[in-house]
Amino acid sequence: MASNVTLIATAAMGIEAFVAREVKDLGYEDVKVENGRVLFEAPVSAIPRANLWLRTADRVRLLVGRFNAYSFDELFESTKALPWEQFITEDGEFPVIGKSVKSKLYSVPDCQSIVKKAIVERLKQKYGVASILKETGAFYRVEVAIHKDEVLLTIDTSGSGLHKRGYRVGQGEAPLKETLAAALVQTTNWKPDQPFVDPFCGSGTIPIEAALIGQNIAPGFNREFASENWNFIQDSYWDEAFQEAEDCANYEQPLDITGSDISHEMVEIAKTNAMEAGLGDLVKWKQMQVKDFNPRKNNGYLLGNPPYGERMGDREEVENMYRDLGVRMRDYPSWSVYILTSNEKFEKLYGREATKKRKLFNGFIKTDYYQFFGKKQ
Ligand SMILES: C[S@@+](CC[C@H](N)C(=O)[O-])C[C@H]1O[C@@H](n2cnc3c(N)ncnc32)[C@H](O)[C@@H]1O
Repeated sequence: MASNVTLIATAAMGIEAFVAREVKDLGYEDVKVENGRVLFEAPVSAIPRANLWLRTADRVRLLVGRFNAYSFDELFESTKALPWEQFITEDGEFPVIGKSVKSKLYSVPDCQSIVKKAIVERLKQKYGVASILKETGAFYRVEVAIHKDEVLLTIDTSGSGLHKRGYRVGQGEAPLKETLAAALVQTTNWKPDQPFVDPFCGSGTIPIEAALIGQNIAPGFNREFASENWNFIQDSYWDEAFQEAEDCANYEQPLDITGSDISHEMVEIAKTNAMEAGLGDLVKWKQMQVKDFNPRKNNGYLLGNPPYGERMGDREEVENMYRDLGVRMRDYPSWSVYILTSNEKFEKLYGREATKKRKLFNGFIKTDYYQFFGKKQ
């Protein structure tokens, strides 16, 4: 088994730089950023650590091979030449999923079955198996991803996507993905002892992610990962990673985080989710309209994902609400305000030009992340 592996942390478009920062913060310097993914060389022990700690990545894949293929023969031979036995055990179960974009090999079902056959042949040879492979053991989801004739063969180490932290038991109509919420919080200069408010908290994603960041709690602490019982990853690596997460969590860190929402029902859902995240009553929750926002402290951070007003009939109400927010925040110049919305007139309605703007996708919706820096007092 090679001592180093190449890992791919996949990321939503626009989030790659956040993921790269997090990977480097974990101590892995050999990082390459590509569209929708961050590649890094690391020891095998990085698999548990990356899965446990990456807040903004979608999943962590193990890169087995990368090559160009223009025919099924090439795909078969290049796949078979890879050291699959270093990762997949003799009894391993390994379904193959696939995708192909702008490539000569465009039939995804054919590519999947060729890759499957090539791995089967390789493993049978290496393990000296004459009949069929049983596939009754550990689970390895292989992906063949082809883009402009370049083939990427990976094994998913995460299982369900890393946004599934395990705390979301309830949600509203348009919940933010946890990975995006973490990225929004990480954009700010908020320090855990400063006031932090999400006045459109919905199911509580942003305040919960802020609390996890504030107390340095590993986002994957409450869940399982596909690679937890893989043979080539020593159990001790998982034990050490979970122990590290426990040691690094700073449960004593005081927080001043509030989530509020116009809807009573959403506030109750947010509370339940926060309990599930193990935050108890660390985050304050209340029912409130944003126009009643009246913080008692200075130098706070307001970060919200309000309704965008995209549905017919909602627009006027939402735009009035953006105006109300702008008027309200004039009374609190020391507060920094961060708003994610697809409404292109936001700055005009809010009544101020953003200090910074950043384009981000919220799922398939193109949004801007408007950032208004407060004047610290
Ligand atoms: C897009 S959702 C927020 C989703 C949230 N980030 C999550 O992850 O669940 C917008 C929220 O704003 C709330 N809202 C709408 N108008 C409001 C107002 N005037 N004041 C406060 N909250 C409002 C809605 O009830 C809804 O929960």
